Amino acid sequence: MNIRIIKVLSLLPSSLLLATSSFAATAPTSIAKLYEESFLVGTAIKSGDLKNPPALSSSLSCREFNAFTAENAMKWEHIHPKPDAYDFSMSDQLIKMAEQCDAKVIGHTLVWHQQTPAWVFQDSQGNTLGRDALLARLKGHIETVVGRYKGKVYGWDVVNEALDEEGNLRDSPWRKIIGDDYLIHAFRYAKAADPTAQLYYNDFNLYKKEKVAGAIKLVEQLRNVGERVDAIGMQGHYSLFYPSLSEIEQSMQAIIDAGIDIAITELDVSVLPLPDDAFSGAEITQSFAAHPVYDPYTTGLPEQQQRQLAETYQGLFGLFLKYAGNVNRVTFWGSSDADSWRNNWPIRGRTDYPLIFDRAGQPKLAHQYITQAIN
Ligand code: G3I
Repeated sequence: MNIRIIKVLSLLPSSLLLATSSFAATAPTSIAKLYEESFLVGTAIKSGDLKNPPALSSSLSCREFNAFTAENAMKWEHIHPKPDAYDFSMSDQLIKMAEQCDAKVIGHTLVWHQQTPAWVFQDSQGNTLGRDALLARLKGHIETVVGRYKGKVYGWDVVNEALDEEGNLRDSPWRKIIGDDYLIHAFRYAKAADPTAQLYYNDFNLYKKEKVAGAIKLVEQLRNVGERVDAIGMQGHYSLFYPSLSEIEQSMQAIIDAGIDIAITELDVSVLPLPDDAFSGAEITQSFAAHPVYDPYTTGLPEQQQRQLAETYQGLFGLFLKYAGNVNRVTFWGSSDADSWRNNWPIRGRTDYPLIFDRAGQPKLAHQYITQAIN
């Protein structure tokens, strides 16, 4: 019997074991198991599942995936909401759930310009903090959070989305106050707090030539000063309309040619149209007004789009397999369509179908095509 199934069963009352033994005997091979010789296949765990954990025996995430990233729970505003207050309730639960499900934990994220409370950049009077004070605050945060989970978190997204679309450093408060070297310090503090954890630079739109060049340059600069970056996280927030497989492949090749490994960290493929054909990425501050024309599949996804989605995923997984020697993980940004952030971005309240399990947690055609890609 699969070790993951044994772990789940061992958590159930014995009275239920008889009833679930047929589940164990007939349980289909999980997507992570299918790909385990190639790379980890992960998912993002939403905060609701950490506040009110579902029974693991019925958890799609536990059954199907072997790497868990907290979708929001480890972001600064949740884990360190006030200067002297940390809240580890959800992140502790993530670690517990991962242990029970035999999954690796990915820490997301230590340094970002979003989801970081304003006080982080201010002193007690509300004045902008100086460089040394902000570095001290960053060090304290990383030592506390990474230190708490030393040996338990497989890899950390140390810095998230530091680049603009041209591949230059964004003018985030981190950069404005500390300077360009804030990344060096972040990676240094993370390595010191847990030398065994993998360390990643994570960003979206890395299929774009200029942006991936910026990410590679950034990693090279970090390595040149002795810091360790184990992989570039290509988030992978895509759509049926962009990017092309060849754009993604060229970027993957550029990263690998530079001697850097890849993690696909936040994969989803929106099927919905947008008012602007040139729009892409995952910049959460960008949005469009809702209109029914941009929400055409509220009662279900037509067969043609279902097939298009499946073909897109098949192409993507074909690519990931082709470079499996340098791709250490592929994480979907959520388990079922019901939970995806794409339902609310960049237009709120739409019905999107970006993942490989439907709203009832059933495998979609995309799941079948991905299964075929490995077979
Ligand atoms: O928790 C509040 C809830 O109390 C409130 O009632 C509700 C009202 O809108 O909002 C809830 O917070 C939302 C939170 O997700 C939890 O659902 C925030 O408004 C919303 O902005 C937040 O969005 C998250 C977003 O990051 C911003 O942090 C998405 O769930 C999450 O999927 C998304 O993930 C990011 C990655 O971290 C980095 N890469 C891009 C990716 C997509 O933006």
